[in-house]
Amino acid sequence: MLRTEDLSIRFGGLSALSNVNFELRRDEIRAIIGPNGAGKSTFFNCLTGVLKPSAGRILFNGEDITGLPPNRISQKGIARSYQITNILPNATTLENVRIAAQSRRHSWSMLSHHAAYRDVIEKAEAALAAVGLEGKEYELAANLSHGEQRTLEIAIALATEPTLLCLDEPTAGMSAGETHDTVELVRRIAKDLTILIVEHDMEVVMGLAQRITVLHYGSILAEGTPAEIQQNPRVLEVYLKT
Ligand SMILES: Nc1ncnc2c1ncn2[C@@H]1O[C@H](COP(=O)(O)OP(=O)(O)O)[C@@H](O)[C@H]1O
Ligand SMILES: [Mg+2]
Repeated sequence: MLRTEDLSIRFGGLSALSNVNFELRRDEIRAIIGPNGAGKSTFFNCLTGVLKPSAGRILFNGEDITGLPPNRISQKGIARSYQITNILPNATTLENVRIAAQSRRHSWSMLSHHAAYRDVIEKAEAALAAVGLEGKEYELAANLSHGEQRTLEIAIALATEPTLLCLDEPTAGMSAGETHDTVELVRRIAKDLTILIVEHDMEVVMGLAQRITVLHYGSILAEGTPAEIQQNPRVLEVYLKT
């Protein structure tokens, strides 16, 4: 479904990603782990068009999407949730999701049609129900708990109807209970989608991912099943050192 070929990006003198060759199969749940600054968020930024790679290619369903703007990539079916919150605090929960649902549609004119507007609202409501935020539609996003706001971010991503969902540290700052609920949520939505997840919580990673890719200083250090990664001497060395 997704392949990167020698994907590289530099920020001045810093090689944030160098020659990353990555492959993801449809329906997989893949975790990306690695120390702080390894390039995990930068990798997502390249995949979703937020940053343009300095070299290399990104292929999505065989199509070269390298350097396309974020809205084009979103329309092709890649969505992401941000590590740092991406919510409009003074809009309602439903409004936040509706804007995302609408962005997947190309034409502005269709919004003048009442039926099409209903359709967008229904998609937004479905995305909220999918994450368990039904009943909170008319709350201001600012009034949701931290955990609910992180969940809303997943609903915003789902509202664009992706086939590949990239989650950047979805459990960051969550309580144990919220983390547990998020794991269940990711498992549930993974039935219909391919998932790429950056996550620090090793229990979450080991419980969710079928395969794990370890990034270290912008390069792939190791790849394998959770059991293989847990026993990989190079991985152990990196994690014991940090
Ligand atoms: N927009 C940017 N401009 C300059 N440097 C950046 C930018 N984004 C990330 N970096 C640097 O690239 C490296 C990788 O960052 P990042 O992808 O955020 O790491 P991770 O998500 O794995 O913690 C870090 O050294 C970071 O400081
Ligand atoms: Mg990051």
